[in-house]
Amino acid sequence: MSTAIRTQDELKALVGQAALQYVVPGGIVGVGTGSTVNKFIDALAGMRDQVRGAVSSSVASTERLKAIGIPVLDANAVDSLAVYIDGADEIDGRGYMVKGGGAALTREKIVAALAERFICIADASKRVEVLGKFPLPVEVIPMATQHVVRRCAALGGRAVLRMRDGQPLVTDNGQHILDVHGLSIADPLGFESEVNQWPGVVTVGVFAHQKASVCLLATSEGVQTIT
Ligand code: 5RP
Repeated sequence: MSTAIRTQDELKALVGQAALQYVVPGGIVGVGTGSTVNKFIDALAGMRDQVRGAVSSSVASTERLKAIGIPVLDANAVDSLAVYIDGADEIDGRGYMVKGGGAALTREKIVAALAERFICIADASKRVEVLGKFPLPVEVIPMATQHVVRRCAALGGRAVLRMRDGQPLVTDNGQHILDVHGLSIADPLGFESEVNQWPGVVTVGVFAHQKASVCLLATSEGVQTIT
């Protein structure tokens, strides 16, 4: 009889471990950001001798990778990556995602763009029918904040500046994050294209043009592979 896997932390560890099968021995791996990716990095420690290096999507992941002895390369030093492994805040049945809960969406999109395959690792709570219930992160240049807030309102969204310790959160890129509540994103491709071209938007947290190639979804029954 199989042992029930109950906690979200256990599910994240399970899917972090499962992602190792996509790491190409001798290669350079793209690494995302967040608590699920942290479990993947923990698992990756067990095969660090088989990995030439990593391209990281955040200062936080870079520190963790270095701590386990994996060299971190600048994104400009690689032409392409076989895989990028990252979590998501939401993922739908087509592999479209909302990301940026950890404020790393811009670098995540850059590293994902270098990769031939995006392997999304998530627990079952992240699977949705329609994107938008999770407040959509949008990285903005600070002087454009109120302009972008108004444009979100015109789409029916309520944008809230993300704070940390009483101050606007500052991303690894020196910018701010708006979290947009109340959206229902029926057309992720069109939505991403539209918001990306608003002046002052650095990155919108819809990952549709760079969707997941594979989703490893951890459930209490085990890891499902969705392609
Ligand atoms: C960070 C992200 C993360 O992948 C996303 O927030 C999921 O994080 P977690 O694994 O902690 O739930 O996009 O910017």
